[in-house]
Amino acid sequence: MKRIIRVSAPGQIFLFGEHAVVYGQPALAAAINISTEAKAKPRADDQIKIVSKGVGNLKGKVKKTNGDWSIQEKTGELSRLRFVVKTAEITLNHLDEGSGFELEIDSEVPVGSGLGSSSAVTTATAAAISSIFDRNLSKDDISDLAYDAELKVQGAASKTGVKVATHGGFLKVTGDEMNSISDISELKVLIGNTGDYGNTGELVKKVRLSKESRPEIINPIIEAIGKTTEAGIKSLQDENLEKVGVLMNVNQNLLEGLGVSSPKLRKLIKAARDAGGKGAKITGAGGGGCMVALTEESVDRISRAIEKKGGEPIKVKVGVEGLSFDSK
Ligand code: MEV
Repeated sequence: MKRIIRVSAPGQIFLFGEHAVVYGQPALAAAINISTEAKAKPRADDQIKIVSKGVGNLKGKVKKTNGDWSIQEKTGELSRLRFVVKTAEITLNHLDEGSGFELEIDSEVPVGSGLGSSSAVTTATAAAISSIFDRNLSKDDISDLAYDAELKVQGAASKTGVKVATHGGFLKVTGDEMNSISDISELKVLIGNTGDYGNTGELVKKVRLSKESRPEIINPIIEAIGKTTEAGIKSLQDENLEKVGVLMNVNQNLLEGLGVSSPKLRKLIKAARDAGGKGAKITGAGGGGCMVALTEESVDRISRAIEKKGGEPIKVKVGVEGLSFDSK
């Protein structure tokens, strides 16, 4: 067993394609330099201790019942740490390992913000726990464990979040298929956080219900988002940023059609466009959380405009490295 493992998994933005990606349409997402760190160390007994900075603590024991490892006799922040606990249990079962461990989590990714906080935390947790048992899982094994945990906790989800958290860079995700897009030059984007919580599970469910009740209207919107993503990727590769901005705005209008925007998101998106943003849209599930603007030279002006409308501007680097390990 290794002594201490430290891993880091990035958050993400969707440049194009959120929601439609759940139905097999392509999306383009990118890793950002805001990340979740997990530090794990093994214990010689069956005790589990989880400390998540700013979120809460949890204690328990790992036990096997009916052939499955689970964390039992839990006390502490059960609900707020549900993604971590579920990932830990799924990872222990995958490895068939049942010794105790201590896990410390420190995340810069704001929860429910559309910046992939649950994917970053599930990925970092699966990577840290599997590593203390000296099991060198591949990035795809780790993203499968993280994805399984997301599905069990929040319901329907695409693999975009966990793939970006493991592989990093710019990723085109279509169902189970994933392609790194390496020929995108550095992009200047600015995130605006509404500070409102967006519940991904609820928003995905809302879109599914309207798709089921009005397929003739919602299916074409979802397909149009897929086409916008394809055109957006092409425009990024051609370095035609004017067109990228127009397509981001088109994508936003289509997301409005799916009913996942909010008055505050609309306000920040309008402010970013008025202040010179080439394009602006929701990033992630919507309902609250963040928007993203393509900024070019106008970054400071857009930043002030977002602040003036009550949002928090966040400058990020886009297309950064994915999951990284540091073992001692
Ligand atoms: C949430 O960050 C993005 C959605 O497309 C859901 C998903 O892809 O899992 C809304």
